[in-house]
Amino acid sequence: MITLIIFIILTINYFPATGVSTLKVGDQLNHTSRLVSPNNNFTLGFFTIPATNSTYLGIWYTNDEQYRRVWVANPSTPITSSSTLLMIDPYLGRIIIATTGGTVIVNISDNNNNKFGQTTNLTATLQDTGDFQLKNETDNRIIWRSFDHPTNVFLPGMKLGSDLKTGRNWNLTSWLSDEVPDVGAFSLSWVSNGENSQRLLVQQRGRLYWTSGDLRGHMFEFMIVNDLLQQCIHTFTEDEEN
Ligand SMILES: *[C@@H]1O[C@H](CO)[C@@H](O)[C@H](O)[C@H]1NC(C)=O
Ligand SMILES: *[C@@H]1O[C@H](CO)[C@@H](O)[C@H](O)[C@H]1NC(C)=O
Ligand SMILES: *[C@@H]1O[C@H](CO)[C@@H](O)[C@H](O)[C@H]1NC(C)=O
Ligand SMILES: *[C@@H]1O[C@H](CO)[C@@H](O)[C@H](O)[C@H]1NC(C)=O
Ligand SMILES: *[C@@H]1O[C@H](CO)[C@@H](O)[C@H](O)[C@H]1NC(C)=O
Ligand SMILES: *[C@@H]1O[C@H](CO)[C@@H](O)[C@H](O)[C@H]1NC(C)=O
Ligand SMILES: *[C@@H]1O[C@H](CO)[C@@H](O)[C@H](O)[C@H]1NC(C)=O
Repeated sequence: MITLIIFIILTINYFPATGVSTLKVGDQLNHTSRLVSPNNNFTLGFFTIPATNSTYLGIWYTNDEQYRRVWVANPSTPITSSSTLLMIDPYLGRIIIATTGGTVIVNISDNNNNKFGQTTNLTATLQDTGDFQLKNETDNRIIWRSFDHPTNVFLPGMKLGSDLKTGRNWNLTSWLSDEVPDVGAFSLSWVSNGENSQRLLVQQRGRLYWTSGDLRGHMFEFMIVNDLLQQCIHTFTEDEEN
């Protein structure tokens, strides 16, 4: 009997009934509902860490029995209430977490500087790559994406490094502990000191902890990587838009 009940509960969590990957203006994702990417690869939803009772919005592999989070929206601003909703604010044109009363608790996406009043043609979609994208459906432009705000996991399709023109920087930061996703001691970044010296750097609270050798072709010196990883190393000399 007990086994049966546990089995049913696990099954419900494992295969979300909704199967919806897109949030539209007016939709609300509550504490128990989920977004699931079109081919079921990734799931987005609220999760609570039992040790702290803190709630976060996160993304995980749908079929990962350990629910390891590959992205956390609010690592530094845990939520303690369970009456929270994920939605698109039609006036600010951004993704927010708000209370059922309407108070904004977390601004997830950047300020879109929407000066045009209420806008209804925005969607937020969880892609099969694990990227959560806010899109303007009118001009098909991606306004914001979670891949531009990585936490501690690097997924295929993400970037490390910086855009010299805009000053934007992509790096990974460790969790504070297994139970606390807040900014931890270690960061991994791709640092360029001119064209001939590009390295991966691990810093511990801003101090150099580890460095790879210089990038030579598709490999960092002194790093033994397999062919698959080599194929992932690309450098861009021009800044990419989107
Ligand atoms: C959460 O949303 C789901 C799907 O929209 C709905 O079925 C459920 O009743 C909601 N739960 C709460 C606590 O509002
Ligand atoms: C978390 O919440 C539950 C239920 O409200 C409570 O029993 C438990 O003591 C809380 N745990 C912590 C670490 O605050
Ligand atoms: C979210 O952004 C709006 C507009 O910039 C601001 O007024 C509000 O204080 C922000 N809320 C939080 C919780 O950061
Ligand atoms: C989604 O999962 C399927 C099955 O595991 C895999 O073949 C596919 O490449 C994945 N899609 C992406 C975009 O990662
Ligand atoms: C919203 O986007 C769709 C798809 O691009 C378009 O057909 C429609 O006209 C847009 N609506 C508004 C109000 O801009
Ligand atoms: C969406 O795109 C249309 C057409 O470019 C633009 O007029 C509108 O202001 C955009 N909306 C937002 C919220 O960026
Ligand atoms: C990592 O990226 C953040 C956000 O762009 C930036 O503030 C921080 O300085 C970067 N850290 C490193 C080590 O590059």
